Amino acid sequence: MSAAKVLISCTTCGYHASQWLGRCPQCGAWDSFARQAPAPHPASTVAPVGAPPVALAEVAAADHPRLETGIAELDRVLGGGLVRGSVALLAGEPGAGKSTLALQAAAGLERAGARTLLVCGEESVGQVAARARRLGGIATTQALAATDLATIQSHAAGYDVLIIDSIQTLSDAGLGGEPGSVTQVRGCASAVARQARESGIALLLVGHVTKDGAIAGPRVLEHLVDVVCTFEGDRGHSLRMLRATKNRFGGTAELGVFEMKAQGLVGVADASRLFLAERHAGVPGSTVGCVLEGRRPMAIEVQALVASPNGHSKDAPRGLRRRIADGLARDRLEVCAAVLERHAGILFGARDLFARIAGGFNTSEPAIDLPLALALASSALGVPVPPDVVAIGEVGLSGDVRSVPGLAVRLQECARLGFQIAVAGRSAAGILGKQQLRVVAISHLSEAVSLLSQDRPGP
Ligand code: TYD
Ligand code: MG
Repeated sequence: MSAAKVLISCTTCGYHASQWLGRCPQCGAWDSFARQAPAPHPASTVAPVGAPPVALAEVAAADHPRLETGIAELDRVLGGGLVRGSVALLAGEPGAGKSTLALQAAAGLERAGARTLLVCGEESVGQVAARARRLGGIATTQALAATDLATIQSHAAGYDVLIIDSIQTLSDAGLGGEPGSVTQVRGCASAVARQARESGIALLLVGHVTKDGAIAGPRVLEHLVDVVCTFEGDRGHSLRMLRATKNRFGGTAELGVFEMKAQGLVGVADASRLFLAERHAGVPGSTVGCVLEGRRPMAIEVQALVASPNGHSKDAPRGLRRRIADGLARDRLEVCAAVLERHAGILFGARDLFARIAGGFNTSEPAIDLPLALALASSALGVPVPPDVVAIGEVGLSGDVRSVPGLAVRLQECARLGFQIAVAGRSAAGILGKQQLRVVAISHLSEAVSLLSQDRPGP
């Protein structure tokens, strides 16, 4: 019988090699290779062991007892709260507000009677206590300053909720690699996850993501947790968005909206009003659209600027033109601009194009195509879109305007906010009564652009 093959892999990123290497070709770490225990040799004849298979139809559906955090925006994204015996990951860039949200969640869980242990691996217990005092509402939550896995596991028993801030600080002497390396993060996370599942603890792991994803981040944990919530928002804005990118106990379409204020994170129930609060209506280059995140319609302002080239001549080759998008994909801007040039007679030449969603919001919803195209056309022509007009629709490559899902709720939201006219695809016609909102149904982008040169969009 041949000896089991010895595996050699990088303790930082997990890269497998057939021989020892001084430097990892994947992550560049030096002296990071170590032997791994060989995989058990597969037995040639397999005798059945463990529990036998069962008929799915005869298995009672599992119910998932929930622990509500009392933070409406968080509970909705989680699908109703944390689930006992499950693992949720709260991921985000440093400064996003993960620790703040975790602490506020602990306060809410406390109010619901849950016993919570907060493991502070990043900040001292004193720092966390000071923040807890400022945020208010923490009385029974216990804090533990620890990074050693065994210590944490020995204290976790008896709690309803275990919050670990952050998973990257944990280490287990039995595993190779530095704290924060793939081996450590994965090994420690799977050990605490197993404990949580076995003892019915709701486990919340805080995990850092960096823009370039260079460190062992939440990606290596996705498969071993039940829920992944990503906290987004840049430090320049107070807006924070929470999205579930994976949820074994609920949908992944829901969006939580928060504002980071002096008193901590405050849920934003009326996001549209927040996004439109500082809008300068009636200036060229601004159009209101309406996105649908989960079941939630939100009016947003799409801004565009078509500017003379800065620092290079008007005849500069096309490659030198700048196309900068903030809050939406740059590709979307490029495609919209190309369609406007080809099918709606708006020529940008060598001019630079900038587009942004106001207020720090970001979305990948196709429904922003039409407001984006109108904002670009409006800036290029120097003609404002009337302030009471919204635009909703996806734009095809031939300039066709397509309808998007959830038109009724989007139109209702726009009507609630006082908009009078919605420019949208054909199927939007007749959804709402005329007294609520007038729909200008169009099938081609050129119709939308021609509205800009009219005093008032025709029926
Ligand atoms: P933090 O929760 O520490 O972020 P993370 O754990 O994701 O790294 O908070 C991020 C920022 O939020 C921090 O720079 C300070 C700011 N902040 C407030 O504005 N108000 C507050 O009440 C708190 C607690 C933090
Ligand atoms: Mg933190």
